[in-house]
Amino acid sequence: MSPTEILAGLGTPEGRADPYPLYAALHEFGEVIELGPRDLLVIGYEAINAVLRDPRFRVSDAASFDRELPGWQANPVFVQAADWILNTNAPRHSRIRSLIARAFTARRVAGLEPAIAKIADELIDAMADRGADGSTVEIMHDFAYLLPVTVICELIGIPDSDREGFRPLARDLAGVFEIRDPATMPTINAAAVDLLSYFAALAARRRQDPRDDLLSDLLAIADADDGRLTDFELLHNLTLLLVAGFETTTNLLGNGLQIVLHDPAASDAVTTGSVSPAAFVDEVLRFDSPVQLTSRIGYEASLAGVQVTEGADVTTVLGAGNRDPRRFAEPGRFDPTRDDGGPLSFGGGAHFCIGAALARLEGAVAFPRLLSRFPRIAPAGDPVRRDTLLLRGFDTLPVILN
Ligand code: HEM
Repeated sequence: MSPTEILAGLGTPEGRADPYPLYAALHEFGEVIELGPRDLLVIGYEAINAVLRDPRFRVSDAASFDRELPGWQANPVFVQAADWILNTNAPRHSRIRSLIARAFTARRVAGLEPAIAKIADELIDAMADRGADGSTVEIMHDFAYLLPVTVICELIGIPDSDREGFRPLARDLAGVFEIRDPATMPTINAAAVDLLSYFAALAARRRQDPRDDLLSDLLAIADADDGRLTDFELLHNLTLLLVAGFETTTNLLGNGLQIVLHDPAASDAVTTGSVSPAAFVDEVLRFDSPVQLTSRIGYEASLAGVQVTEGADVTTVLGAGNRDPRRFAEPGRFDPTRDDGGPLSFGGGAHFCIGAALARLEGAVAFPRLLSRFPRIAPAGDPVRRDTLLLRGFDTLPVILN
């Protein structure tokens, strides 16, 4: 098969359900595949790393929106997205990211561990009740979705009483990463408007009455910093933390569960402690990356022997780099004891995931608690996969707990 034929496979529902045989076939053609004169697919581990760590490969920003999305300013979600650090380049990116990073510290993340354990235990107790009589439990919603979204609320400082109403908005807004049908735009825009006004009101309260939470810290840092971070930049990047933070982590939990449901040895490795929870989580991230790809805009350069042109579309396939046989021995084998290097699932370079430590912590707390409590957890019927390529995960994953 030629690369074009293999790629056609990735465009089908079957290819999206299991892209890994197609990635394996693509690896035969080298690290970088030319799809067209200004269109490159980067699938090799080293080449992906090189692109992500080189700031001359720029992310799509407001100037790109002007070129590609005429009238984007009429969509509240794009107005917010134009301020997201994910969609800004240096020097603007460094200015906004460094201020956010000063609030989103390793200490704040580590300090969340008891809260994560408590939230996980409450969800586990509720599932145990629902599944006690042998009923099927839908673990994507009841655990994989509710844990990360509640943890983000905890991190930002969303009061308990507001969380119920807040969750569906977060889910609607996350639709921005997979706009497949323009008819979904009104829902996404409405969520963007509601979340922004919610955050503006909460920020006003936290300015009056600061608490020990990320929002209060961000406001203090912004206010002490001569307004270098505008209120809109701050509020818009709060909505980014939501969309970037919970669905990805939901998929980390769901993809890991699917692995252990079919590989009891992997489950035992976690519950007996023969591999550390952190190593297990990293192997889940490598084996079945929740984010399969990201993209950059090219400049005149040579990449793994292939010429890149100015303005080229450069798609880095993180999920394929994680299965690069040049980097990982037997890449299709799930092996949490492997020591051949970390996954690319959080990206790399200036845009490296700001929530990586939090996502890893959530996984490391959740998997051992869940699997020790339900050692006989088993699939109950067919899971339903989300038919998407960028974010990889399940819509539903029915299980029986005992
Ligand atoms: C398993 C879970 C997660 C995965 C796989 C993941 C993956 C990624 C990837 C691949 C990028 C880089 C995109 C690029 O370079 O184009 C990224 C960036 C980002 N992530 Fe995550 N993420 C996860 C969890 C989180 C969490 C929990 C948060 C926040 C609470 C978060 C917030 C962000 C933000 C704000 C960025 C943009 C950073 C920048 O552009 O400077 N992510 N993430």
